Amino acid sequence: MSAQALDVPILALEGAGRVHPGRGGTVRALGPVDLTLRRGELVAIMGPSGSGKSTLLALSGALDRPSEGRVRLDGRDLALLAPSELARLRRRFVGYVFQDLNLLPGLTALENVSLPLELDGARLVAARDEARAALERVRLAHLADRFPEELSGGEQQRVAIARAFVGPRALLLADEPTGRSTP
Ligand SMILES: Nc1ncnc2c1ncn2[C@@H]1O[C@H](COP(=O)(O)OP(=O)(O)OP(=O)(O)O)[C@@H](O)[C@H]1O
Ligand SMILES: [Mg+2]
Repeated sequence: MSAQALDVPILALEGAGRVHPGRGGTVRALGPVDLTLRRGELVAIMGPSGSGKSTLLALSGALDRPSEGRVRLDGRDLALLAPSELARLRRRFVGYVFQDLNLLPGLTALENVSLPLELDGARLVAARDEARAALERVRLAHLADRFPEELSGGEQQRVAIARAFVGPRALLLADEPTGRSTP
């Protein structure tokens, strides 16, 4: 039976925390935190600067590993996955809007949004069609051929959001996605 049929949480943090080694001892960036998220749920994490929001999202999106506790995506303990399996999970399952966006400057808006689909083996025409539709959803289709530096901060943010939801993503993680403008 699939994880979905068993209603396994899409994301589960179990006592997950993160400390960083530093010059004057360790720095605790997060936790330990328990969090369960099921399909269709929307959760907003709020807290002051430096409280660990980006760290929590990085652990949730398998961009970083916890120094204690567990992170499960669709029931799978990330600590037990091989690097190639982790990469595939990040590419197919998780959409991520970075706090600093991480758009590729040498690619147009359309190419940035299309890239995850192309990396995942989609045909170019199909990938570009889906990317164009995603840009339409964030009302940016008319700027599809602009490069990131030719877009405003809020427009860049909407490109990053479109890139995060193309493909069959089950989990969308967004780090301060509305900080730069009101789309
Ligand atoms: N690589 C690192 N090494 C040492 N300390 C770190 C590291 N990354 C984050 N921290 C510290 O961990 C804490 C949490 O950082 P984090 O980026 O998760 O905060 P945040 O809630 O996202 O803040 P903001 O609202 O400013 O984005 C901060 O005190 C930060 O200085
Ligand atoms: Mg942050």
